[in-house]
Amino acid sequence: MYSKIFQLALLAGVICFFSCKNTPGTPQPGIEKSAFGQMPDGRAVELYTLRNAQGMEVKITTYGGTITSWTAPDKAGTYADIALGCDSLADYLHGTPYFGAIIGRYGNRIAKGKFTLDSVAYTLATNNIGNHLHGGIAGFDKVLWSAEAVPGAEPALRLTYQSKDGEEGYPGNLSATVTYTLQKDNALKIDYTATADKPTIVNLTNHTYFNLAGNGDILGHELLLHADRFLPVDSTLIPTGELRPVSGTVFDFTSATPIGARINDTSDVQIRYGLGYDHCWVLTASDADGLRPAAVLSEPQSGRVLEVLTTEPAVQFYSGNFLDGTVTGKGDLPYRYRTGLCLETQHYPDAPNRPEFPSTVLRPGEMYTSSTVYRFSVKR
Ligand code: GLA
Repeated sequence: MYSKIFQLALLAGVICFFSCKNTPGTPQPGIEKSAFGQMPDGRAVELYTLRNAQGMEVKITTYGGTITSWTAPDKAGTYADIALGCDSLADYLHGTPYFGAIIGRYGNRIAKGKFTLDSVAYTLATNNIGNHLHGGIAGFDKVLWSAEAVPGAEPALRLTYQSKDGEEGYPGNLSATVTYTLQKDNALKIDYTATADKPTIVNLTNHTYFNLAGNGDILGHELLLHADRFLPVDSTLIPTGELRPVSGTVFDFTSATPIGARINDTSDVQIRYGLGYDHCWVLTASDADGLRPAAVLSEPQSGRVLEVLTTEPAVQFYSGNFLDGTVTGKGDLPYRYRTGLCLETQHYPDAPNRPEFPSTVLRPGEMYTSSTVYRFSVKR
């Protein structure tokens, strides 16, 4: 009565129904909290695991609002951890090069740690060859954030931190929030807000080191940056103020290019200064809802693709030039030279000293807002 093909299709459907539904033990989507140790003063540190229905997991600790682990599927659907990090709080407390951390008050550099705002001169902590880097000696990556799960259709975690007037030399009490939302489409959205009771400066970002292969170095990763200009720097990585066209330079990533293709071309002094890539690219067009495409990173072997979109005007691409095997991470394995790369969406470095750069000033009554989306997909 029924054709052979229809009977086979019916049989396949029945088999699939019983084998495809969630096999017992498959972790359910949602958000879980667990203990992650104690700060030196005894305060409890927590670890939150956000999981979506696809199986992507992002682990975030309240220490530094740090992403400690982030899984993404390859072209075979196998999830692997694509973020550098550590297994224990002790390792983070011992010190890392900002693995996965929230960065603030001001991500990237401020020349000599000095700036003037409303004719008042401020001096920040200097922690990087005479400049101020990533919020100073005890930046937002090294403080304990408060956390709460945010109710909603997708697992979300809101972190808050009250930065005191004078902290690291910054003016004003600043109240910061960072909300991580793990979306159904394997994207992690990071929303930042801040308010202050005095005029101050703010430029928040996240410092995840990506390795889409989950091992080896990142030189075979292909990068596209939606930017036709970048900021040349001096020998201490402070921008000179020039917005230089990338065309004809080793900084041209306007089409997907292997990161290793020109990374050691020291004929360009900027490569010598950065020890590779450690520069800020100025993003082009902005999208309707404020999010503009910033970057596309792909890893040909695994097929993993990472798209970055942001409200911010720039992105720092750092090719892991200071990773030298002296810092060990998960599984007690050393992170060797250029085994991770960062795409730190942000305002321009040293903007407080460059009136021609977009402003990073926040005044009482204003709300600083910034969003970045890191969306994963696969290319077969
Ligand atoms: C940022 C800086 C780099 C380096 C890393 C952390 O990406 O631009 O120079 O300091 O942070 O090691």
